[in-house]
Amino acid sequence: MTTQEALDRINYLRTTIETHNYQYYTLSAPIISDFDFDILMKELEKLEAEFPQYADANSPTQRVGNDINMKFTQREHKYPMLSLGNTYNEGELLDFDNRVKKALDQQFEYVCELKYDGTSISLTYQNGQLTHAVTRGDGSKGDDVTANVKTIRSIPLTLHGKGFPAFFEIRGEIFMPHSVFQKLNNEKISLGEQPFANPRNAASGTLKMQNSSLVAKRHFDCFLYYIVGDNLPTESHFQNLEMARTWGFKIPAYIKRCNSINDVFQFVKYWDIERKNLPFDIDGIVVKVDSMIHQRNLGFTSKTPRWAISYKFQAERAETKLLSVDFQVGRTGAVTPVANLEPVQLAGTTVKRASLHNADQIILLDLRLKDTVFVEKAGEIIPQIIGVNTANRLANSVPLKFIENCPECNTPLVRSEGEVAYYCPNYNGCAPQITGKIEHFIGRAAMNINAGEATAELLYRNGFVTHITDLYSLTKEQLLTLDRFAEKSAENLINSINDSKKVPFHRVLFALGIRYVGETVAKKLAAHFKNIDSLINATTTKLVEAEEIGERIAQSIVTFFADERNQSMIEELRVAGVQLSANDNDANKISDKLAGISIIISGNFERYSREEIKQLIEMHGGKSISSISPKTNYLLAGDKIGPSKLEKARKLNIPVINENDFIKMIE
Ligand code: IVH
Repeated sequence: MTTQEALDRINYLRTTIETHNYQYYTLSAPIISDFDFDILMKELEKLEAEFPQYADANSPTQRVGNDINMKFTQREHKYPMLSLGNTYNEGELLDFDNRVKKALDQQFEYVCELKYDGTSISLTYQNGQLTHAVTRGDGSKGDDVTANVKTIRSIPLTLHGKGFPAFFEIRGEIFMPHSVFQKLNNEKISLGEQPFANPRNAASGTLKMQNSSLVAKRHFDCFLYYIVGDNLPTESHFQNLEMARTWGFKIPAYIKRCNSINDVFQFVKYWDIERKNLPFDIDGIVVKVDSMIHQRNLGFTSKTPRWAISYKFQAERAETKLLSVDFQVGRTGAVTPVANLEPVQLAGTTVKRASLHNADQIILLDLRLKDTVFVEKAGEIIPQIIGVNTANRLANSVPLKFIENCPECNTPLVRSEGEVAYYCPNYNGCAPQITGKIEHFIGRAAMNINAGEATAELLYRNGFVTHITDLYSLTKEQLLTLDRFAEKSAENLINSINDSKKVPFHRVLFALGIRYVGETVAKKLAAHFKNIDSLINATTTKLVEAEEIGERIAQSIVTFFADERNQSMIEELRVAGVQLSANDNDANKISDKLAGISIIISGNFERYSREEIKQLIEMHGGKSISSISPKTNYLLAGDKIGPSKLEKARKLNIPVINENDFIKMIE
């Protein structure tokens, strides 16, 4: 390689890596895998070492990443937040072991931990009180996200026990368990919004939200794995973590002391398989030298500790051919490109389709038909195309073009400023938008009409329901002309449609399918405006006065009600007898699942606080009572429940349930 060639390559790598840093840290939307990113980084590090004349203080190798978002105040880290060196195979781990052995020249132990795939956080405690929570930022200063972090229940605000230093920092990873991630994405999809690609993006995106009450709803978790400070209780990392567990921190149980690198290999092998059964994502293993004295002797390089290293699992990835791209139209009219792939085995399933997200993604990937593409399971859940193997590209291929007209009704697509998606504006005449709206309207959280997707589609295709309001003039006779329906099933559907007229106003509002009006927003609107007429007449200025309603939602509501077709829909719903005003009691009502049931709660719970459980009982139509009687239906027992209550319940033959049983009852 000539010096000119080296310089060209270095410049190319620096700009490419910077683009990926920006995608990953600032936008929380990475477009290549960590593995590929690390390959670029390693190549750049190597070239910079070989050609020191091209050193640059602003090279991406000179910093540990940047996730600074100016909207938060920044805080210096008292101890820099460094990252870890990465290894990808046993050989590289062995090299690390040899380096440590050589430097220490005495007996030592390792601690193996899992590498949690979320977003790192540094928590400062002063006299047992949480004072600051700061993101990694550029390693020397980060965003102060204390208000958001305080919403995470597994993080203690006040420490328990004794023996903690008067001042110390503890670091860990905030992450979103799979169950929470799936729920959040389902919600996003039902609102016609872009789902998060994986739990890591969901975690880092959420931590930077301005409104901490929204953060609270996302049910994050946080594992702690590293204590920093001057007067730590012991000189063993492992024992310090054990101590920290007694102070109330969530110290993961997946941690092991190892006497040799062979034990470390065992740990790696075990978790490379078992990780698939964990309820959260990990992307590798972290190996640390246990003794803090040894750690200090080994010290740090400019970017990483010499006493710890990470071993990254290969992301499950496959290579296959892109056969075609379908364009799907959703309820909101958003058009999503979906890739059809030559079927390929990936992490135990056959993958035939992968999401392409939007037009920008197609351009970024420079995707072409018949390309050989790399598919990865993002967060082990949704298959995604993460890159193209350009070496296999056909000579005459041309970049894929996003369609200009709706694939369903041929209307020219539109893309508004600041939006990533193209939309079909023909929302009252485009089949999937109409059936999508009907499906949303009848959904459980909306009008709760007892019919599924297939029925909605059938009614639409037969011309019985071409608009949601047609549901209320549907007759049993019409249904009986369809093969699918018999006397009883037809009657059930008609009854269920009639019952839907009693559904509280906030659910009707949600059912209308107004963009950005999800279940929570609908509740806030119903509570504030009380009835549909004041909502229809509200200006954006009036709308933003309501709790949690911002400009974007306000504008969407105004646009919705300005449309004459929507005005006549409301009139038809009014004539049908649907609830268009709020009853004071039902603003918070979710269901009648616990109607007539009284529950007494006792003890401490994992997922909800006692107050939240009380609210949940009431939101589902039940009664939360404070003293046990023969009329009590259940005793909901948490941790540390008083023995006398339990005894009394047994005497009265009252069934005892736990938090999970309760969650199942209201789900
Ligand atoms: S220790 C100086 N332990 O990995 C060492 N980090 O690439 C500090 N991570 O920024 C880190 N699990 O966000 C450590 N058990 C674990 C970890 C872990 C995940 C993350 C952390 C860090 C990154 C380093």
